[in-house]
Amino acid sequence: MAKGYKIAVLPGDGTGPEVIAEGCKVLDAAAQKFGFKLERHVYDLGGKRYLRTGETVSDATLAELKTFDAIYLGAIGDPSIKPGILEKGVLLRLRFELDQYVNLRPAKLYPGVKSPLAGKRPEDIDYTIIRENCGGLYTGMGGISRKGTKDACAVQNMVYTYGQVARCMRYAFEYARKHGKKSRGIGPRNTLAMVLKTNVLTYMADLWNEVFEEIGAEYPDVTREYYHVDATCLYMVNSPEMFDVIVTENMFGDIITDLAAATQGGLGVAAGGNINPDGVSMFEPIGGTAPMWTGKNAINPIAAIGAGAMLLRALGEEPAGNAVEAAIAKTTPKMKSQLANEMGFTTTQVGDLVAETL
Ligand code: IPM
Ligand code: MN
Repeated sequence: MAKGYKIAVLPGDGTGPEVIAEGCKVLDAAAQKFGFKLERHVYDLGGKRYLRTGETVSDATLAELKTFDAIYLGAIGDPSIKPGILEKGVLLRLRFELDQYVNLRPAKLYPGVKSPLAGKRPEDIDYTIIRENCGGLYTGMGGISRKGTKDACAVQNMVYTYGQVARCMRYAFEYARKHGKKSRGIGPRNTLAMVLKTNVLTYMADLWNEVFEEIGAEYPDVTREYYHVDATCLYMVNSPEMFDVIVTENMFGDIITDLAAATQGGLGVAAGGNINPDGVSMFEPIGGTAPMWTGKNAINPIAAIGAGAMLLRALGEEPAGNAVEAAIAKTTPKMKSQLANEMGFTTTQVGDLVAETL
């Protein structure tokens, strides 16, 4: 009997449903070609549901989501809802409750895609950022006193436990060992660069350095490097070819992965995974809901399709994931641009192209 997987699909808001539809088209083509079954269940989480019911995610839905093999998410957000409600209520809640402690974001320049970095080729921008995804400033600890007065005082704490750092670090070393540039046959060694700000965040430095050295000692085949986060931004623009695998804390990771996305041609191509290696992982295009392009069949679905490729790999269907990735790399050179409305194709046509190539 063919292998089967249960996927929870969360199309979300704005252009989310449009890009996820193309992603599902490609996933179905991959399932057919590689001989496995995908059983999809759609959940209407997001802004529209919140406005209708006042509910972000119910405990019952959360419990259901925990029974799936993976989650495929479009985008969540609504300009009419106060910032923070949906982010904390849906996206971050899912990440925390499902303990998706790694955010995996490949920075990959596909063939034919124009990078804003002059002269950079696909082989120059080909690295992966591993962002700790549950702790740090996102823990939500702090407070404000004398709010609304001129004496107001706000505190937002960056919090990490040894265990949180260690499990993310182990994932990063394993990833660098398996998927580093040497393992992929494109470089002399596998490298893991830790990115932090040890000259200022000295307490975090003590903890992260200790874990980096301790776990790193178990991986003599992975070269360790360290860069400050500000310098990293500069290198990501000037010399992206120096990076292989990067590991960093949550907020720094949030910021540098947007920069990485820009260098790889924008949010239309950038995919990411919220990973719990022992639980349910969630894959998403990292762009937002793009309200101005909603319903126009103009948004770029490549990022969503790329997230689908990551989802397949996480299910253990590596050849299928790699084939989807290869089909993307054959499609991008045919596109005029990766920007919405300038692709030379509609959203659905790009999905068709990738599915047919596959
Ligand atoms: C991301 C987003 C989220 C984050 C927001 C929407 C809470 O920017 O996935 O990078 O900060 O992680
Ligand atoms: Mn972000």
